[in-house]
Amino acid sequence: MQGNDDEESRAVDLRQRTEDDSDWIVELLTKEWGSTKIVTRGNTWTADELPAVVAITGDERTGLATYRIDGDSCEMISLNSLMENIGIGTALVNEVKRRAKVAGCKRLWLITTNDNLKAIRFYQRRGFVLVAVHRNALDESRRLKPSIPLVGLDGIPMRDEIEMELIL
Ligand SMILES: CC(C)(COP(=O)(O)OP(=O)(O)OC[C@H]1O[C@@H](n2cnc3c(N)ncnc32)[C@H](O)[C@@H]1OP(=O)(O)O)[C@@H](O)C(=O)NCCC(=O)NCCS
Repeated sequence: MQGNDDEESRAVDLRQRTEDDSDWIVELLTKEWGSTKIVTRGNTWTADELPAVVAITGDERTGLATYRIDGDSCEMISLNSLMENIGIGTALVNEVKRRAKVAGCKRLWLITTNDNLKAIRFYQRRGFVLVAVHRNALDESRRLKPSIPLVGLDGIPMRDEIEMELIL
């Protein structure tokens, strides 16, 4: 295990993505996000080509975080835990945070959507703050990625990008 310091994350090992992970990463992103393309703030990111942390539990891959570093900011592009509530999501966030700090970043930020109340809760519990609501940003995102649904989690219309950040 590396890069995390809390008790909850002890069940998970974290490692840099390898060539062998590529097919799994494409499959996971496609299943969880409809495509390997992820749109944030009007930009389309090819998430399967980004730096990534893979979580391993036992012999299985159980989580993925992709991110990009731009100057002194790090944007988390995707975060998925395939085995929830045992510390995998927290461990992945901690590892991206550690990597961002090593790279000299001052800010770790991300976009989630207004329907993802669980994520908004999860990130706030881990020190992130809401810095902006980009109203109706999903209209533009859908032009770039038409597969983004109109209705999201809990039947909530997917409309806005919620920007969250953690100062490092
Ligand atoms: C949001 C998400 C990443 C959280 O991942 P996770 O692996 O469930 O996260 P964790 O296990 O670290 O934390 C979840 C809860 O489990 C609890 N938990 C962790 N280890 C635990 C353990 N051993 N026993 C009991 N509870 C535990 C944590 O305390 C946490 O609760 P809290 O927020 O009240 O503190 C996950 O739900 C997910 O992949 N969602 C779908 C994709 C998504 O929305 N991604 C983020 C938007 S970009």
